[in-house]
Amino acid sequence: MSTLHRVLVQNAKSMKSLKSGSVDLVVTSPPYPMIEMWDDVFKKMTPKANQAFKENNGNTAFELMHEALDSVWKEVVRVLKNGGFACINIGDATRTINDNFMLYPNHSRL
Ligand SMILES: C[S@@+](CC[C@H](N)C(=O)[O-])C[C@H]1O[C@@H](n2cnc3c(N)ncnc32)[C@H](O)[C@@H]1O
Repeated sequence: MSTLHRVLVQNAKSMKSLKSGSVDLVVTSPPYPMIEMWDDVFKKMTPKANQAFKENNGNTAFELMHEALDSVWKEVVRVLKNGGFACINIGDATRTINDNFMLYPNHSRL
């Protein structure tokens, strides 16, 4: 079996150079919502999530961060062939906001 490899440096929200239904396998590791080390990435993607943190509203921040990623998943579905596979590496997050410790279930939201 031969495979084709090209490196595209671009935003995964819009991979226009890939035809719809042309990809067999997607393997990806997105930034994890609610994990502090990715806060700056999400701040740029969705400034409203930053505002939600300032208001100590973790659930809203969680949802806004996922909404920022949703357009990537839509694009992944577009480029995948019928029966293709998407392997997404993501972990849940635990975080304390305003003395409120919570689990943010990234895997199930995704
Ligand atoms: C969890 S890291 C993955 C790191 C990678 N697997 C590695 O080993 O270096 C998430 C990466 O996704 C990138 N990223 C975030 N949004 C993106 C987007 N819309 N399109 C492409 N890459 C994105 C981030 O800049 C970050 O480098």
